[in-house]
Amino acid sequence: MTDTTLNHIAFIMDGNGRWAKARGLSRSDGHKEGAKNLKKVLEACQKRGIHYVTLYAFSTENWSRPEPEVHLLMTLFRQYLSEAIKEFKPQNDVCFHFIGDRTRFTSDIQERMAKLESLCSGKENYHLTVCLSYSGRDEMKRAVQKMMQDAIDGKIKPSDVTEDVISSYLDTAGLPDPDLMIRTSGEQRLSNFLLWQLAYSEFYFPMVHWPEFSEKDLDEAIEAYKTRDRRFGKVK
Ligand code: FPP
Repeated sequence: MTDTTLNHIAFIMDGNGRWAKARGLSRSDGHKEGAKNLKKVLEACQKRGIHYVTLYAFSTENWSRPEPEVHLLMTLFRQYLSEAIKEFKPQNDVCFHFIGDRTRFTSDIQERMAKLESLCSGKENYHLTVCLSYSGRDEMKRAVQKMMQDAIDGKIKPSDVTEDVISSYLDTAGLPDPDLMIRTSGEQRLSNFLLWQLAYSEFYFPMVHWPEFSEKDLDEAIEAYKTRDRRFGKVK
């Protein structure tokens, strides 16, 4: 069965550092430009009727980057969250979700995430999921911990565990799996992103770095997706 409905795109926003280096700029400049481009790409997705977008913004492993780079990224997240709160309009109908281990962020960042989530709660039309301090294996580890605690508390038993039950313990509970995963910069790997959820997604690896990923690149990705024959393990 060919299903080329495109409801959910997941992005690995790679190449900020290489984009900056090629221009004699600092890695921080690359991330700032990446954050600017993010706004454009999100608008372009909305214009094209993509109802779910998921972004890999900061991985569990990214905490090991040099301290000044981590600090700059935290500043960008803070700014992004503050602007999103300030510019929030109920009529835009966008629901924000922040997934990952948010306990590792400073309290002011955690408060901004909670504030934005509460503002948009109940919005159903567009969903933006931002993965922060996230990795697929860490998400699974935390899901197993929760499930084991529920087993100890008598809320679940081994024979209750189905794929849907596992999904309900993940950070992405309630969200559909991505149809398309785009990783910019040409690297062809998952880097611990949505390991469970990408099981049947189509992958696309454009050669451009994230700060210059344009509407045209998005359209090319969508066109490529439409030519894919999604069989979900079945025969036609
Ligand atoms: C990967 O490029 C990018 C990141 C680790 C950070 C992504 C962050 C942003 C796009 C900006 C802010 C996001 C939000 C949600 C406000 P890289 O640095 O690994 O690039 P490289 O592989 O070329 O070094």
